[in-house]
This record gives sequence, C-alpha cells and structure tokens, in this order.
Amino acid sequence: MKTVLILGAASDMAVALAHAFAGQGFNVLLAARQAGRLAETVSDLKIRHDVAATAVEFDALDFASHAEFYRNLPAGPDVAICVFGYLGDQTTAQSDFTEAHKIIDTNYTGAVSILNIVANDFERRGSGTIIGISSVAGDRGRQSNYLYGSAKAAFTAYLSGLRNRLFKRGVHVITVKPGFVRTKMTAGLPLPKPVTAKPAQVAADVFRAYSRQSNVVYSLWMWRFIMLLIRHMPEGIFKRLKL
Ligand SMILES: NC(=O)c1ccc[n+]([C@@H]2O[C@H](COP(=O)([O-])OP(=O)(O)OC[C@H]3O[C@@H](n4cnc5c(N)ncnc54)[C@H](OP(=O)(O)O)[C@@H]3O)[C@@H](O)[C@H]2O)c1
Repeated sequence: MKTVLILGAASDMAVALAHAFAGQGFNVLLAARQAGRLAETVSDLKIRHDVAATAVEFDALDFASHAEFYRNLPAGPDVAICVFGYLGDQTTAQSDFTEAHKIIDTNYTGAVSILNIVANDFERRGSGTIIGISSVAGDRGRQSNYLYGSAKAAFTAYLSGLRNRLFKRGVHVITVKPGFVRTKMTAGLPLPKPVTAKPAQVAADVFRAYSRQSNVVYSLWMWRFIMLLIRHMPEGIFKRLKL
C-alpha cells in the first residue's frame, strides 16, 4: 500500500485531498500545526476508506525541525503534497515587513525547506511524486495580492526546476495552480461562481494529474485559458487595470 504525506493538512483542500487519495487505497499522513485537532478527520479516513491514517505535528515556519520531522514519520511516503499557504493581508504587508515576511516564508521558504528534504529522499529511493499547490496568482503580479503572488511565482519556479532535476531519477513533480477555491482562505470574498472550485473538485483534479503524471495543472481547467490571456496582455494595458 502506498502512503501520501499531506503537508498543511488542516485546510478544507487538504482534507479533500486526503479523502481523494485514501479513496484510492493510500495510507495517509496528515501533517499540521496542532495535529490533535485532526482526530476526527483521522477516524473518518480510517472508517470510510479502511486505510491507515495518522496526524503528525508540523510547522512550515519551523525550518530547523523539518529534517527531524521527516525522519520521524511512521512511514516513508510515496507521494508528498505541499498544501500549506498563507494569503495574508496585501495592504498591511506593503508597509509592515513582518506580514510580508510571513507571506514569503509560508508560501515559499517553508515549502523549499521541507521539499528539499523530501526531494533528496525520493531521489535516493529512485521513486516518488511531489505535488505542490501553487496558485494562478503566481502567473502574473497584480496590485491586490502581489506579495502572495510573488511567493507563489517563486514556488512555481522551484517546482519546475525540481521536476527538471528529478525527471531522470524516477521522481515526478506536479505543479497545481488553483484559481478561486471556496475555502477558509477566501471566506467572505465575492468569488465568481462559474470559475470557483469546491475543495473536492481541486482534489479530484490533483488525483487525476497524479494518475496521468501530468506536469502542470490548472484547477478548474478553464483557468489555463484565463491565465493565458492575462499573461499575454500587454504591460501598457495591464498596468492601468484595477486587478
Ligand atoms: N482558496 C483559494 O482560492 C486558493 C487559490 C489558489 C491557491 N490556493 C492555495 O491552496 C492551498 C490551500 O489553501 P486553502 O484555500 O485551503 O486555504 P486555508 O484554508 O487558509 O489553508 C491554508 C492551510 O495552510 C496551513 N498553514 C499556514 N501556515 C502554516 C504553517 N506555518 N505550518 C503549517 N501549516 C500552515 C494552515 O494551517 P492552520 O490551520 O494551522 O492555520 C491551513 O490549514 C494554499 O497553498 C493556497 O495558497 C488557494
């Protein structure tokens, strides 16, 4: 039986991912801050899918703990999904570097810190899949969230490089770029329904990408075309828009 490690496992998207993989027979390691609060998710996964599920303590910002965290996992994972992220407050972050720093560290530095360790282990074993949940926000910086977007852009570039490095070593890397998703992160925001996904839809897209060994996936699919237009809009027009 294969094992999936979900990093940042307390979010709605992470729980949906846990069910998607457990539904296909994966044992699940849920890594999150205050892991005790995942007890109900753990027992739900076990009962519904008849798999092993364990919650373990993990803080993406506690870089120094990552090597020991990974060494102490009850099983070596076959798939690692990096789900944690922090939208933060763009306006605050423009004048308060503490907030900017937290956005950068959560979405980028923390991901690099733990995925470097996972990548080296998978490379040594000659197998495994790393899945990074990045964002369409990383495809082009815009005024409303460019600090979060720039950290996700860095994460997207990191995943691309990792894929290139590990391809010949039997390790696959998938970049997932969700558009709008209805979760705690976007609670209260006026999201346009036709292009807003439910966490379960993102999880289904991620599992399909894993089965097909896709490289870069947008979720929902139409975001690939929306972002194609946004990326190719001339800067002279783009900079005048209120985005
Ligand atoms: N929602 C969207 O529209 C959208 C769009 C594109 C991409 N994404 C990405 O999708 C992923 C999941 O986001 P979501 O929408 O489900 O948002 P969310 O509910 O806010 O989930 C974010 C998760 O990240 C965890 N996290 C933050 N800092 C952490 C840290 N230092 N250590 C460990 N875990 C930490 C949070 O844990 P706590 O519960 O402990 O705070 C939370 O469970 C994120 O990477 C996000 O950037 C979301």
